[in-house]
Parts: sequence; C-alpha cells; structure tokens
Amino acid sequence: MHPLNTPARHLPTAFLSPQHVAEIVHTRGLPAIFQGLVETLRADFLRWPEFDKSARVASHSAKGVIELMPIADASTYSFKYVNGHPGNTRQGLSTVMAFGVLADVDTGIPLLVSELTLTTALRTAATSVMAAQALARPESRVMALIGNGAQSEFQALAFHYLMGIEEIRLFDVDAAATEKLMRNLQGTSLRLVQCASALEAARGADILTTVTADKALATIVTPDMVTPGMHINGVGGDCPGKTELHPEVLRRGPVFVEYAPQSRVEGDVQQMPADFPVTELWQVLSGAAAGRTSADQVTVFDSVGFALEDYSALRFMRAQALALGMGEPLPLIPALADPKNLFSALGNAVPQRVEGVQALDSAARSVAYSGA
Ligand SMILES: NC(=O)c1ccc[n+]([C@@H]2O[C@H](COP(=O)([O-])OP(=O)(O)OC[C@H]3O[C@@H](n4cnc5c(N)ncnc54)[C@H](O)[C@@H]3O)[C@@H](O)[C@H]2O)c1
Repeated sequence: MHPLNTPARHLPTAFLSPQHVAEIVHTRGLPAIFQGLVETLRADFLRWPEFDKSARVASHSAKGVIELMPIADASTYSFKYVNGHPGNTRQGLSTVMAFGVLADVDTGIPLLVSELTLTTALRTAATSVMAAQALARPESRVMALIGNGAQSEFQALAFHYLMGIEEIRLFDVDAAATEKLMRNLQGTSLRLVQCASALEAARGADILTTVTADKALATIVTPDMVTPGMHINGVGGDCPGKTELHPEVLRRGPVFVEYAPQSRVEGDVQQMPADFPVTELWQVLSGAAAGRTSADQVTVFDSVGFALEDYSALRFMRAQALALGMGEPLPLIPALADPKNLFSALGNAVPQRVEGVQALDSAARSVAYSGA
C-alpha cells in the first residue's frame, strides 16, 4: 500500500460542502433557515462587546478583491475567505465565492470547515432582514430589488417570509438576470414586477434593496428615487471604490452600519467625511441607540458584511448538521499518540537512510533548489 494511503488518525474536524448545506436547507425549509439565522445573528449581535473584532483584511487587484474575515469570542474563533470579482460571471464564474472555519479557542482545533458561498447568501439576506425588522416600517409590503444576480433570490425570499413583503419590483442592467430570478421564484406567492429602470423599480417601494456588483463608484440610487418612510438596504457597495448610493441619499436619513471602522472604508459611507454620523446596528438591537423614530423618516442600512455574520452562520449550520447527522469527517489534522512526535505522522514514507542530495531524483532536486 502506498504510504500516503495508510490509515491515519485525525482530529474530528467536520466538513460541510454546498451539497450538505443544500440538504440542510431542503430538510429544514428556507423559512425556518432564515428564521434560525436571524435568531442566531441577533443573539450574537447582542453579545457584541464579547467579541474580539477587526476590520477584514483585503487584498485588492485590478479585477477584484480577496478578503479574510476573522473574529472570536472566549470560546470560538472563525474566519471566512471570500472574494469579490464583478467580472467573473462573464467567464462563467461566481462573483462571490467563500469558505470558512470554526475553531475551538482553548485548543485551536478546527471544528468545522464549511462552504460559505451559499451560506453567505443566506446570512446576508438574514442580516438584511434583521436590520429591516429594526429599521423599516412594519407595514412595508413592496420592495424594489436592484441587481438580480446570485444574491437576489435570497434577499427576495427572506423579505417575503420574514418581513411580509408581497411585491418585488425588479431591475438589472442584464435583463437575463431578472428573467432568471422570475423563473426561480415563479412558484412563490410573491408578485414580481420587471421594471425598465432603477427609478421605475423604486416607484411605490417601501424598502429599496441594492445588490449590484460593479467595481466602480456607481450611483444606483439617486435622491429622486427616495420617498418619505423608505428603508434602504444597500448590500452591494462593500469595497473601497465600489458604491451604490448617491451621497445625498446618505444625507437623507440616519445611516446604520455593521462595524464602523470597516464600513467607513468599504461601505457607501466611504464617500462621506470621517465624522459623518453612523450608528452600529448592534446598538439599535440592544436598545442603546434609536432606530427609526418616525413613519416618514428615511433609514439606510449600509451593509458590507461583517465577520460576526459568518461566525453566526457557521455556528448555526454546524448545529443543524449535528442535529440532522449531516456533513462528513475531514481528515485535516493528524492525531498523534505523542504530540511532540509529529515526525511519526510521515509513517514509513521516510527512507531510513538518505545519502545526501544523491538520494533526490533530478526533478525533486530542481524543486528543492528553486526554494519551492
Ligand atoms: N453586504 C454583504 O454582506 C454582501 C454579501 C454578499 C455579496 N455582497 C455584494 O453584493 C453584490 C452582488 O453580489 P452577487 O453575488 O449577487 O453578484 P452577481 O454578479 O451575481 O450579481 C450582480 C448583478 O448586479 C447587476 N448590476 C451591475 N450593475 C448594475 C446597475 N448599475 N444597475 C442594476 N444592476 C446592475 C449585474 O448585471 C448582476 O446581475 C456584490 O457587489 C457583492 O460584493 C455583499
């Protein structure tokens, strides 16, 4: 038997693939998944001071960004790897792709490695709803949804199930994206209205959601689209140089963000002066700050996506997987009889006697000398 195939002992890391997450969603049902995510997010946002928080670490390139998003409380650590490449769909690739880890703080054991592409769409929609439940008018029934790509159905359904949205007014510069959304949601009781422009989509909307992808200082929402009492859920402006809301729109209402040090760099508020007032959402949820104060006020949730949302989503999905017996073991970290004897994990792959570099074949030698 090849030494790499010899059975080895490993620490119990679990793995959730996109198929596992889809199975969890099928078994529980989307309304229950959104509800569970909102409850988990709210519980974690209410523990805000307990978390060791930092803005995500972003590596920018000409075509997009790759980000690492770490966070921890006293018992559990998590991080997410996520990209944002608005041109990817032209090559048949997703704009946003992600995976993440949940680990035990006391030992550092990675407890879970999970897909986070589907889960990010679920948690982003759940976060949008959690914010809207605190900020939008409760009688909101009509939502404009501008940007009808990968995240859009998740936003539409979360607002339908949990906020009572009955009509969605759709606009995308790519009409095929809107038609895809309408096909995907044709079996629901949502009224779907395809609009010819963002302005037309905004007409009569109680909530205006923007979830577009463009690596540009875009102005998707202009002041003429904003009406008294509207709640704006800005999801797509989430990177330096990438915005959706006109600065005057931000001046129209109180602006709520996830984590101010990150949002001031990445959110639509990057366009505003450093002292432009923003309120962190956890403060509204905990009652420490006011949310909406009148029915005709305009409220803005300038969302960028914060590490705590992924921590909550990973925690939620792990609990679901454990309860349903789903997922699989991932042989990631060797379990050693003597933890100081890591060398033993190489097993009999190591020859007993190596006569210097002569023992290396020429291919291996060139790798060794190139420093790879
Ligand atoms: N805030 C968060 O937590 C969070 C989470 C996930 C994704 N995002 C962001 O949400 C955005 C959308 O993500 P996605 O995965 O749906 O991307 P996607 O590429 O699948 O879809 C984006 C859609 O926006 C449309 N679009 C681009 N410019 C437009 C414009 N000017 N007017 C109308 N439509 C326009 C595109 O045609 C496309 O259909 C991205 O910018 C992503 O970075 C934010």
